Amino acid sequence: MSHWKSAVDAAIAANSHRPESKYLQLATIRRDGRPAARTLVFRRFQEATHSLIFCTDKRSEKVAEMDDNPNVEACWYFPETRQQFRFMGKLRGIGLREGFPEETDLRRVVWRGLTDDSRRSFAWPAPGEEAAALEAFNVEIPSPVEPLDTFILLLLEPEEVDALDLRTHPHRRVRWSINNGIWTGSPRNP
Ligand SMILES: Cc1cc2nc3c(=O)[nH]c(=O)nc-3n(C[C@H](O)[C@H](O)[C@H](O)COP(=O)(O)O)c2cc1C
Repeated sequence: MSHWKSAVDAAIAANSHRPESKYLQLATIRRDGRPAARTLVFRRFQEATHSLIFCTDKRSEKVAEMDDNPNVEACWYFPETRQQFRFMGKLRGIGLREGFPEETDLRRVVWRGLTDDSRRSFAWPAPGEEAAALEAFNVEIPSPVEPLDTFILLLLEPEEVDALDLRTHPHRRVRWSINNGIWTGSPRNP
């Protein structure tokens, strides 16, 4: 049984010609206890912790929700290889307050990898607020080097991973959990 991380790396490679395979759904918990789900682009792994990295605007609702309750689940489907991975864990931000130098560097690296259009969206009026006048969206292209204050990274550090593979009969499902830094997989009925 290959480790979930190797399986995800292999799925990313096998699905790389399908841009939508980098989109996954992240569910948070709203203040009133109801769930909130939205699509995000997977950017990369933080290799040491196997955390999934996303970027977002610090003014967005998911960030306030994470502050109240960091427990989240992300669901990622790879259409070419018909695999689903569900990541349960805690979410935290990089760029919200003074951080470790290597994390500040990581934030810069991800910012530098964005397109001008993506970088520009971080200078738009605050997400989720009542729609602003169109002129408010005619913003300058920001520096490609130094991230805007609104730009943050979200790190989902998995505590459990549920891997489902639809290619076999019967389908194969493994529930992975981590204990003292060691991942173990338990085969489950699909
Ligand atoms: C294909 C696709 C990719 C998206 N990627 C991101 C992303 O990487 N980061 C992000 O903050 N929002 C992304 N969004 C927008 C979010 O789904 C969401 O609408 C927005 O972040 C506001 O969410 P919130 O109000 O729950 O915080 C994407 C939407 C789509 C449809």
